Amino acid sequence: MSCDSAPFGSLPSRLGARRITVAYRDRVVLDQLSLDIPDGAFTVIIGANGCGKSTLLRALARIVAPAGGSVLLDGAEIAGYHTKEVARRLGLLPQDSVVPDDITVFDLVSRGRYPHQEFLRRWSAADDRAVAEALAATGLGELADRFVDELSGGQRQRAWISLVLAQQTPLMLLDEPTRALDIAHQIELLDLMGRLNRDHGRTLVAVLHDLNQAFRYADHLIAMRNGAIVAQGTPAELVSAAFIEQLFGLRSVVIDDPVSGRPLVIPVGEAHSGT
Ligand SMILES: Nc1ncnc2c1ncn2[C@@H]1O[C@H](COP(=O)(O)OP(=O)(O)O)[C@@H](O)[C@H]1O
Ligand SMILES: [Mg+2]
Repeated sequence: MSCDSAPFGSLPSRLGARRITVAYRDRVVLDQLSLDIPDGAFTVIIGANGCGKSTLLRALARIVAPAGGSVLLDGAEIAGYHTKEVARRLGLLPQDSVVPDDITVFDLVSRGRYPHQEFLRRWSAADDRAVAEALAATGLGELADRFVDELSGGQRQRAWISLVLAQQTPLMLLDEPTRALDIAHQIELLDLMGRLNRDHGRTLVAVLHDLNQAFRYADHLIAMRNGAIVAQGTPAELVSAAFIEQLFGLRSVVIDDPVSGRPLVIPVGEAHSGT
């Protein structure tokens, strides 16, 4: 376990934080937090409700500005970039997205192409292709002309994911991307993320609530508690019953996932605590 240090020693990192402090009004949520997101890895952030996972992603994506410290993107302070320049390098799926009125799935996903459009040439064949590919990847091709506010929660979530995919950024930050999806669509999405990572070299950072999915898909795990990073490493290095107890105050049994060989957490709970 390591605190506050580069995860893979001196391996490259395009995105990181240096002692950032993030506060809402005068309530400090992240206090001088530092980290490096390893390039080319599938990083998963876990931690209890309210520990600051979304705040960290929002700071890394420049949605909130730290009161102190800095976020570094490709070696320069992210605060100094033009908006489009950030959006060409880094895509964020926020935890709460408000659907604009009267917008179709196609129009929503097309917004992912804005950062790529030049001053005079508005919409290109490459933009069309990127949107079509993004819709196909999430299985929404058939629903392209539907209004987003008429979709089910899971379909709407897939539309937002398509928007980030259409952005085609080397870095993707996803805050609870599997929220509202049924189990089959959860696995489909995580497999898609795995392919984007392995086959297309995308660097992924996701907040996942399902611990067993986190352990199965993560190359690199970041565990947070009370606004701080308490451990980083591979699931095999980190996960034990004591680790789960420390992070969530939950008694559990940890076994090997029979499918993936990764750690599998089984909560004990009250009814069975005598066994
Ligand atoms: N917009 C906001 N205004 C005020 N407090 C906030 C806001 N967003 C989050 N918080 C607070 O910051 C803390 C961390 O929240 P968050 O980053 O959303 O945690 P997580 O994503 O781990 O559940 C929580 O105590 C939450 O209540
Ligand atoms: Mg959150």
